[in-house]
Amino acid sequence: MLKGAIIGFGNIAVRGHVLAYLSDEVLRSKVQIASVMDVVGQNRELLRQYFPEAKFYTDFLSMLENERLDFVDICTPPHTHADYIQRCATKGIHILCEKPLTETYAKASGLVKLVRESHIVFVPCHQYKYSPLWKTIHEFIASKKLGTATLAQFNVFRLHADSGTTAWSPDWRTKRNHSGGGILVDTGAHYFYLAQYFFGVPKRVFSVLRTLKHVDYDVEDTALVTLEYDQTLMQVNLTWAANQRANSLHIVGTEGSLFYNEKALLFSNSAGTQEIPMPDVSDKNQYVSWYAALIKEFVKRIEEQNTSDDFLCEAFNVMKMLDLSYKASEKNAMIDVG
Ligand SMILES: NC(=O)c1ccc[n+]([C@@H]2O[C@H](COP(=O)([O-])OP(=O)(O)OC[C@H]3O[C@@H](n4cnc5c(N)ncnc54)[C@H](O)[C@@H]3O)[C@@H](O)[C@H]2O)c1
Repeated sequence: MLKGAIIGFGNIAVRGHVLAYLSDEVLRSKVQIASVMDVVGQNRELLRQYFPEAKFYTDFLSMLENERLDFVDICTPPHTHADYIQRCATKGIHILCEKPLTETYAKASGLVKLVRESHIVFVPCHQYKYSPLWKTIHEFIASKKLGTATLAQFNVFRLHADSGTTAWSPDWRTKRNHSGGGILVDTGAHYFYLAQYFFGVPKRVFSVLRTLKHVDYDVEDTALVTLEYDQTLMQVNLTWAANQRANSLHIVGTEGSLFYNEKALLFSNSAGTQEIPMPDVSDKNQYVSWYAALIKEFVKRIEEQNTSDDFLCEAFNVMKMLDLSYKASEKNAMIDVG
């Protein structure tokens, strides 16, 4: 049995990670959540309900002194990730970490060498890659059913930033020193690892970041980003300034195209249109099974002592693309990824 600790027991830990650990038979047989650490104790009762044997700590060092941990699952806000990653990696504790890797590119750069040289398993919570929608799209692109994908456009419209748990700082997403940025960091991070999954690392980045509606936010509420590849342009349009929630995507290629409208994925080519039913990708209840698949991959890597740095590089590249997007918007210029 692998012994793990969840650090940060707020919304995503309770509604996503915990339910994944409990709902999956393989995870139940291989993983024991031995402890939880959080600076506030609001969800202490929920811990008793879900993991009656687990201990609750409000101090990280006490937890390290008292528990023999195989892994930690970091679910705290971004500005705390680097410190926990550093302290766990140097102790040889495997790490599952929520996105983004850190709140700044500079901090992320400092971490990569350290994590690599610690020979631990590091997996970022890039759970979209385990969802039916994104896996199906990946298969369409990889199998060339679209020919060459020339233009890929992703739209995410929201009314405001999501809140964090009420017990800590519910508006941390709109405070740059906690989050590292606005909707670009919060939602764009997902699209930057999906970009790598579909097309690899882009050649150039252009971006327009603005605060259009939520002037009280300390971060952008709207982000339009273009990623340029040799034969593909990928465009990501994100806003917290909409009147209703909506998600859509179009991917057009030389031989076929895909369109997603929250109910189905439509594939069209010269033979006609095929409708593939899909769950609503923005429904957070869907996340549980995606997290379970991701955590199983993490456990498998620990069992096989697979300390490949591929996921670490993916998370670091997300940080790089976030950083370049901010620079591109500031300079109003297309920037080479290098
Ligand atoms: N992968 C996804 O789809 C997804 C979805 C939601 C959130 N997230 C990420 O998960 C993380 C947490 O988000 P959330 O929505 O659960 O936030 P939240 O505010 O609901 O929960 C954060 C928890 O961390 C605790 N905390 C704060 N500082 C701490 C510290 N120094 N040490 C220990 N605990 C601390 C808070 O008390 C709180 O309980 C963020 O990195 C966020 O980007 C990812």
